[in-house]
Amino acid sequence: MFKIVEKKVLAPSIFLMDIEAPRVAKSAQPGQFIILRMDEKGERLPLTICDYDREKGTVTIVVQAIGCSTRRMADFNVGDYFADFVGPLGRESEFIHENIEDVKKKKVLFVAGGVGTAPVYPQVKWLHENGVDVDVIIGAKNKEMLIMEDEMKAVCANLYPATDDGSYGYKGLVTDLIKDLVQNQGKQYDEVIAIGPMIMMKFVCKLTEELGIKTIVSLNPVMVDGTGMCGACRVTVGGETKFACVDGPEFDGHTVDFDEAMKRQGLYKDEECQKTESYEK
Ligand code: NAD
Ligand code: FES
Repeated sequence: MFKIVEKKVLAPSIFLMDIEAPRVAKSAQPGQFIILRMDEKGERLPLTICDYDREKGTVTIVVQAIGCSTRRMADFNVGDYFADFVGPLGRESEFIHENIEDVKKKKVLFVAGGVGTAPVYPQVKWLHENGVDVDVIIGAKNKEMLIMEDEMKAVCANLYPATDDGSYGYKGLVTDLIKDLVQNQGKQYDEVIAIGPMIMMKFVCKLTEELGIKTIVSLNPVMVDGTGMCGACRVTVGGETKFACVDGPEFDGHTVDFDEAMKRQGLYKDEECQKTESYEK
């Protein structure tokens, strides 16, 4: 059993939890994820790791309560337990295995969209701790939905918030802001790492392809076992079938078939809606 030792509300329907999971905390790396089950009959929820504290033995996750399971999860509090917390799963971010001196030479821009800000944080923090300060865009619908701004500010070179409605920071989509930084403010980037809703990653990749900037994305398709056995997380990358849980979740964004990935992500929407409605009754 895995105890919840901290819970914080970050924005309406978005909450953070620290889970006591020493073995996961010991080997977690940026880019990896866990699969959680609230109880024996619970759905398996894949969640990207937002932070880890090897000394305390805790792993931080950030969840948006949008479906039946995540709404149920929002009712859990400090002192409650989850039945399963399996991980770390998936491959670490690419830069962990690169020569840090080569990484230092690169100008990197992270693009975080909505809840996707949570998985961006451990990557930016790791780079900062290893002497690399990067630029970060955080996009959200409005000021209220913008999360982890202070935490991110503490570990990056320049933080650029953007809101769709202009209630805070730059007014517009993250793609508009990338264009503004590169075309109007003279910023140059060798690499973009984009994590957020699939539609955002699709359009960031479309733009960076035009701008000629290498782009990595973190895919979050439907997952079941998380070990490459069930095929649920199948995606097409560079014309080949890949399993996001073991081959990813990070891929070269310019080679991902986003339209197929979005179609597959929506396959169980009706069932999810029915379960959500029955939970709300
Ligand atoms: P959102 O809908 O508020 O979008 C966040 C930002 O993405 C927007 O502010 C905008 O700047 C940008 N964006 C959205 N649509 C765009 C478009 N068409 N073109 C360019 N930019 C666009 O985000 P949200 O409600 O927090 O998103 C939740 C989604 O994020 C869920 O579907 C969840 O599955 C996904 N998510 C993905 C990951 C991951 O690892 N990839 C992690 C957490 C959450
Ligand atoms: Fe089953 Fe990836 S989740 S193969």
